[in-house]
Amino acid sequence: MATTPTYEDRLKDFSWSLAEQELGYRKGDPLNIGWHCSDRLCRQGLADKTALVWEDFSGATKTYTFDDLRVLSNTFAAHLQGLGIQPGERVCLFMDRVPELYLGFLGGLKMGAVVQPLFSAFGADSLWTRLDDAGTTAIVTQRKHVAKVRKLLDKLPQLRHVILVDAGDGPLRERESGLDLHALPRVETFDAHPTGPETPSVLHYTSGTTGQPKGAQHVHYSLISQYLTAKWVLDLRPDDVYWCNADPGWVTGTSYGIIGPWANGVTQVVLDSGFNAEKWYDFMARRGVTVWYSAPTAIRLLMREGSDLVRKHDLSRLRHLCSVGEPLNAEAVVWSQEAFGKPFHDTYWQTETGCMMITNFPGMKVKPGSMGKPFPGITATVLDPNTNLPHEGTGRVGLIAIRPGWPSQIRGYWNNQAGYERKFVNGWYICGDRASIDADGYYWFVGRDDDVINTGGHLVGPFEIESALLEHPAVAESAAVAKPDPVNMEVVKAFVTLKPGIAPDDDLELEIMNFIRKKLSPLAMPQEIEFTDSLPKTRSGKIVRRILRAREFGEPEGDLSTLMSE
Ligand code: PRX
Repeated sequence: MATTPTYEDRLKDFSWSLAEQELGYRKGDPLNIGWHCSDRLCRQGLADKTALVWEDFSGATKTYTFDDLRVLSNTFAAHLQGLGIQPGERVCLFMDRVPELYLGFLGGLKMGAVVQPLFSAFGADSLWTRLDDAGTTAIVTQRKHVAKVRKLLDKLPQLRHVILVDAGDGPLRERESGLDLHALPRVETFDAHPTGPETPSVLHYTSGTTGQPKGAQHVHYSLISQYLTAKWVLDLRPDDVYWCNADPGWVTGTSYGIIGPWANGVTQVVLDSGFNAEKWYDFMARRGVTVWYSAPTAIRLLMREGSDLVRKHDLSRLRHLCSVGEPLNAEAVVWSQEAFGKPFHDTYWQTETGCMMITNFPGMKVKPGSMGKPFPGITATVLDPNTNLPHEGTGRVGLIAIRPGWPSQIRGYWNNQAGYERKFVNGWYICGDRASIDADGYYWFVGRDDDVINTGGHLVGPFEIESALLEHPAVAESAAVAKPDPVNMEVVKAFVTLKPGIAPDDDLELEIMNFIRKKLSPLAMPQEIEFTDSLPKTRSGKIVRRILRAREFGEPEGDLSTLMSE
């Protein structure tokens, strides 16, 4: 019997061309993710295989074969084309996890658009920042979210099309049209736009320390490493039933909730519903999930409910568990071994990397609390922050850095090439995280190297929150920092000084929290607001979040020599 190759086997003579060969891609060929995730599989005899089983909170179900993916994404693509949308234009998908989101993703790519998925819980301000920056020309959404788009139309003259997937017979306004994918005539053949490997594909907005979120620009060649990492690390096999918890508004939900598994011809299940432990286990048992890609916050929530609940469900088909997005604490790995009989395998990567960088490869010894080792083909290290050279010896904390050139590396930030170039030092891509490497080559996450807040696996930029806080009539100055949280790892805490004559009270705190929730999103909403008379600043007047954050974490406040008070 053939044995599964080990991590060491995979390292030997590794080349990304292996994935190119398996996908039947040769240099010079067109390369289109939408086509590869549907048409190619139909040609390989998988037309009638189930590609997607979708279920919502009420239990309503829809099932799609790979041929349905092919035809309905054709239909979507042809419809966008019919509206006059051109290849290269940005088409935003602003929907819950409804089937149209998945079909629209493939369809948009097939007609050559740059697909810009945005989390449907975003409020109007978060939406505006991202649509304005990307110069988006079309947004595909649902009735329940269209009010947020309508508010912005005056400020977004370039947004020519607001497309509703559930328009029904309801009234439509200027620039709005309906796209009932299941009622339109099915488009059996559609010539995918001949995108090349370097043609822009997906634009994901991600938060940094300074300025508004940046548009991370992926290209169609990302398929190569998304395909192979999904196959090897998620250990996807032809009979698997795979469930990825992530929403395609974030990179995990596209790289491994659409592209990776479908490029491998694997059946995916989607639950369009919020977190509920009982419901999740029931869903996995009924659907026979075999491979599960989740996140530490969800795992911690499940831990709270205990392992007895796990045992009430038949999860015997569950074969492989992976996690991403935040540090996976050792306790969670130990608990999963006890509750599911197998450990969660941590994986580390980012929006900018497009695919997994550091992973617990199947079969490799799991060291609970470690992110594992670099994926074959990925050269990683930790740099001494003083010299930007790789640390010598082991166990020393440094900046996680990757040698550029892997297939799904972003090719730039939209409208911000300078910001992109700043991510490279001495020939290394700098992730913005700190870690150490042990004597066995395992990476251990230490923390972020900037002020970005990671709440429940979602990055939130302090600048975006602070700018929104300043729009509240009572707020004079603000700083947003991370505060430790037992479940979400971090939550947003805001420090606020008020305008003269305004006194803080609980009502004002609630009002400001709600103000941010509506404008930005529930993720960005501060869980706590501390009213203060002043904020720590540098001599040039810049607020120093570092000190506020250090106080929250009970850490040393560091060098205070540039502070104004000094
Ligand atoms: O800080 C790291 C954290 O999430 C960041 C990337 O976030 P984003 O671009 O939104 O992509 C999330 C999903 C790929 C990283 O810079 N992060 C991600 N995975 C891990 C992690 N921190 C610790 N351990 C991980 N496994």
